[in-house]
Amino acid sequence: MAAAGSWSDACSSAGKAGTRPGTVVGVTPQETPPQDAPQGPWSCRLHVITGKGGTGKTTVAGALAVALATGGRRVLLTEVEGRQQIAQLFDTPPLPYAERKVASAPGGGEVFALAIDAEEALLEYLEMFYNLRRAGKALGRIGAIDFATTIAPGVRDVLLTGKVKEAVNRPDATRAGGRAYDAVVLDAPPTGRIARFLNVTAEVAGLAKMGPIRAQADNVMAVMHSGSTAVHLVTLLEEMPIQETVDGVCELRAAGLPVGGVIVNMVRTPLLDAGDLQLASTGQLDLEGLAAGVKGAGLRPSAELVHALAAQAAQHARRVVLETVQRREVEALGRPVYELPLVADGVDLGVVYQFAELLRTQRMVG
Ligand SMILES: Nc1ncnc2c1ncn2[C@@H]1O[C@H](COP(=O)(O)OP(=O)(O)O)[C@@H](O)[C@H]1O
Ligand SMILES: [Mg+2]
Repeated sequence: MAAAGSWSDACSSAGKAGTRPGTVVGVTPQETPPQDAPQGPWSCRLHVITGKGGTGKTTVAGALAVALATGGRRVLLTEVEGRQQIAQLFDTPPLPYAERKVASAPGGGEVFALAIDAEEALLEYLEMFYNLRRAGKALGRIGAIDFATTIAPGVRDVLLTGKVKEAVNRPDATRAGGRAYDAVVLDAPPTGRIARFLNVTAEVAGLAKMGPIRAQADNVMAVMHSGSTAVHLVTLLEEMPIQETVDGVCELRAAGLPVGGVIVNMVRTPLLDAGDLQLASTGQLDLEGLAAGVKGAGLRPSAELVHALAAQAAQHARRVVLETVQRREVEALGRPVYELPLVADGVDLGVVYQFAELLRTQRMVG
C-alpha cells in the first residue's frame, strides 16, 4: 500500500493547468488519507477495469472474468459504453439488455455478460420501485424524455453504476455464498472519466440532496468504497498511457476509491540480450558480427543492409531503455503489477483464455 502522505506527491498536473495536484474537477477530495484496495490476489466481488482508450480494457476485463470463473465460479462481465465490445470479444451476437452466458471457464465456471444501457436501467428502476415501467415507456415514445441527450450525466452514471451494484448484491439463496454472482467485472469508462463515473454521490450532489436518486447514489458509493471493490488500471509501456495511469491512480485516491492492480498490456520481449542492447544503444554493435549473421541467414550482407539493421537495433535498444523507465514509474505507484504480452496476430477467444491463465499464474486472482 502506498505510504499515506506520499500519494498526492505522485500526482501529475499535466493537462490540468491551474489545478492543485490531487484535485480533480468535479470530484470532492476526501479529508481522510486514501485507502487503496489491499494487495492481490484479489478476492473482491467487484473488479472495475479502467485505462486509456485502446490499451486493452475490454480484453483484460474479459480475461479477468474467465480467470475469476475458473474452478467453478459464476462471474458477470458488464460494459456501460453501448459499444457491444464484450459480444465482439466473445464472438457472440450483440447482447440484449439481459444477462447471457458468453463463455465457460475451466473447472465448470461460467461467464455471463450484460451490456448495461442507461435507459433500460431507468425503466427497470421505475418498474422495481414504482411499478412504472409502462409509464416510462409511454414517456419515451412521446419524446417527453429524449433520454440519451437530455439526462444529466451524473444521473446517467447513477443508473449505470446502480445496475452494477444491483448485480453485485443480488441474492440467490440456492447458491453457496447466497449471491447470484461470485464476482462482477466492469469494463469501465477510460481513466480520464473513471473517478467521476464511480464517485456518483459527488456528481449528483447538486441535483439531488435527497430522494431516490440520491439514495441510489449513496448505495452505489457504499459498494464502490467497500473493501470488496478494486479498480484496476490497464496500461502500456508508452508515455501517454503511463501518464494517464499515474493521473488516474491519483484521482482515484483523491476520491477515496480503492485502487487495485496495474496490468501492463502488450509487453514486448527484448530481441537482444542486455550486452547487445547496451552496444546497440550507443552505436557500438559489432558490424562484422552483424554481417556474418546476415550471411548465415542466407542473405548478401551489403553495407547498406548491415547499417540499416544496426539503426533498427539502436532504435529497439532506445525503446527498451524507455520501457525500463516507464516500468519504474508503474512500480512507483506501489500497486501489484501484472503483465500480458503483445500477441502478433491480435486477440481472439483463444488469447482471452491464455491471458486468463497468465493472470492466474501471476496470482491476480485467488
Ligand atoms: N496483448 C495484446 N496483444 C495484441 N493486441 C491486443 C492486446 N490487447 C489488446 N489488443 C488489441 O488492441 C485493441 C484494443 O483493445 P481493447 O481491449 O478493445 O482496448 P480498450 O477496451 O481499452 O479500448 C483491440 O484490437 C485488441 O484486440
Ligand atoms: Mg473497450
